[in-house]
Amino acid sequence: ICRYRDENGPVSPIEFPGKVKAWMVTSYEMVNAILSNDDVLYSKSPAYFTALHDGTVPADWPLRQLIEGDHLLVKDREEHRRLRSLINRAFTPGRVAGLAPRIQEMTDELLDRLAGETGVVDLVKAFTEPLPVAVICELFGVPEGIERNQIREWSNVLLSHTASPEEAAATGAAILGYLAEFVERKRGAPGDDLTTGLIKAQEDDGDRLSDEEMLWILWLVLIAGHETTVHLIANAVIALCTDREQLAMAQERDAWDQVVEEALRSRNSVVGVLFRYPNEDVRLGETTIPAGEPIMVGIAGAGTDPATFGADAGRFDISRGAREPHLGFGRGPHFCLGAPLARLECRIALASLFGRYPDLDLAIKEDEVGYTSSFITEGPSALPVVL
Ligand code: HEM
Repeated sequence: ICRYRDENGPVSPIEFPGKVKAWMVTSYEMVNAILSNDDVLYSKSPAYFTALHDGTVPADWPLRQLIEGDHLLVKDREEHRRLRSLINRAFTPGRVAGLAPRIQEMTDELLDRLAGETGVVDLVKAFTEPLPVAVICELFGVPEGIERNQIREWSNVLLSHTASPEEAAATGAAILGYLAEFVERKRGAPGDDLTTGLIKAQEDDGDRLSDEEMLWILWLVLIAGHETTVHLIANAVIALCTDREQLAMAQERDAWDQVVEEALRSRNSVVGVLFRYPNEDVRLGETTIPAGEPIMVGIAGAGTDPATFGADAGRFDISRGAREPHLGFGRGPHFCLGAPLARLECRIALASLFGRYPDLDLAIKEDEVGYTSSFITEGPSALPVVL
């Protein structure tokens, strides 16, 4: 649903079980306009909240936790601006840049473990899945060992999409419970990490984060920064392995930044489905969307829109030169908070992987790769490669 552009045009109605109707938008121009406008298009949906409480949204609605939580993604306008500026005090460019040497070390450690492997390796299990959660733990200041392993296990439950709704809910609650206890511990033992930065920001004069808000920030960073990055790295590996010219170009020109940007445009892990809810009727092309009806913002569709990126929009090509900036990290007020970290991490991961194993290739055909897809992200569930 999320990647397609169908004959009905760039705006198409989608029916979900349980009386929920939504509108899928896949045009670059429209997606750009929708994400930039938080005067008319809200992230938080009164209609959905009512629907949830009326029981009209199915119990296993996969986005339940994301829309029921109390975090940045479901806040709008003044409330959102306030929270984002408080977070920015601690989530600074300097903090992200300072993580680079540790990201490199952690990447190298994972690659070291693969040394000598001559058979088929599942790259998701061995590399793309463990790295992002390790980076987030490093960002938070979670000590290495049992705690990191626990967080990794929880993240994998959420990543698997095969978890039952009860299991997913219990895992979400366990993560929040852990984070509450972790923040309390950090108060007594500060470090050079995001958690300590957020705690310090609570001590500033003027407006400050509540304890509850801080928990939800950490929760969201963990959820938003894990799966997206796991899948983006893996999607980029597939693109490079199936077009060795692109790989050679990336290696010769040391063009890993372009690889990451092109993957974000044409092989993004965020395939849909960001929701926006118009607070008045809105007209998109020929279609009028009634106030309150959910709009599903098709990031992946927008990234491969021929009207913007040309007839070969679907082709992964690092030499194409941006015609328009991609929307892979969104646009407007909710633009990805972790974009600088994600860029850094994906660049280090891909450059190091192909630097160490330049002949790395898929062990199966491209069309045999199995994908796992939530409503939000998509990427390979396993990636058999030979090094
Ligand atoms: C928001 C994509 C990695 C934290 C977003 C949005 C997109 C996105 C499209 C906009 C959502 C919306 O408009 O509703 C990605 C991709 C990533 C990535 C493709 C990896 C390649 C990360 C990382 C972190 C992170 C590593 C944290 C360390 C967040 C947060 C938001 C967000 C907190 C919500 C911002 C807000 O609502 O103001 N991301 N993301 N993301 N992302 Fe990322």
